Amino acid sequence: MIIVAPSLLSADHGHLAREIESLEAAGADWLHIDVIDGHFAPNLTFGPWIVEMARKLTRLPIDAHLMVTDPLTYGPTFARAGADYVSIHVEATVHLHRALAAIRLAGAKPGVALNPLTPLCYLEECLEYVDLVVVMGVNPGFSGQTFVPNAIRRVETAASLIANRPNANSNVPAPLIEVDGGVSESVAPFLIQAGATVLVSGAYLFRSPDYKEALARLRR
Ligand code: DX5
Ligand code: ZN
Repeated sequence: MIIVAPSLLSADHGHLAREIESLEAAGADWLHIDVIDGHFAPNLTFGPWIVEMARKLTRLPIDAHLMVTDPLTYGPTFARAGADYVSIHVEATVHLHRALAAIRLAGAKPGVALNPLTPLCYLEECLEYVDLVVVMGVNPGFSGQTFVPNAIRRVETAASLIANRPNANSNVPAPLIEVDGGVSESVAPFLIQAGATVLVSGAYLFRSPDYKEALARLRR
């Protein structure tokens, strides 16, 4: 089953509550919340109160994507605010294990995100500690950017690393593979074939007049 996670960054910020209700009614699977601090990536977006607000409004799993230089502090903050998944960037901290453990301890499922040219070998060390791998399809910062095509090959490599992960024979579920940035109906089939299970959608979905139809086109 393909999970589609609309990114609130592209929503109408004057009517966030209404947008969240429409997305849930249209059949969105998760809600993706992009947290950008103006240092790790060039933009300023949401604080933890947006997650608290969304948590009260919807039952959809909340997928917080932290593009911040201090994931050790803010990972647990967003977990406590009510996010189900909290993903942090491998490029952001030298204390990745500590930050992932802190997110789990604070009650969320940790995820690890990698920018378009960050070596995937980082994953070999992380896979036992995460529930989600986020393969970036754009450089973090903004919605509506052009998809970097190497993400398709990177999803394939991530899938094979996951299949061969150290705890592959245990009962621990395999991490999901999410693609974030530049996803549209034209690249979605290639990403799904490569092994992606979660597709984030910003500009493509929110530019569509009919969310339900756009969600269906992405899953096809
Ligand atoms: C980029 C964000 C993405 C972005 C997705 O920094 O992490 O989640 O909002 O938007 P689109 O689908 O428009 O690239
Ligand atoms: Zn994101």
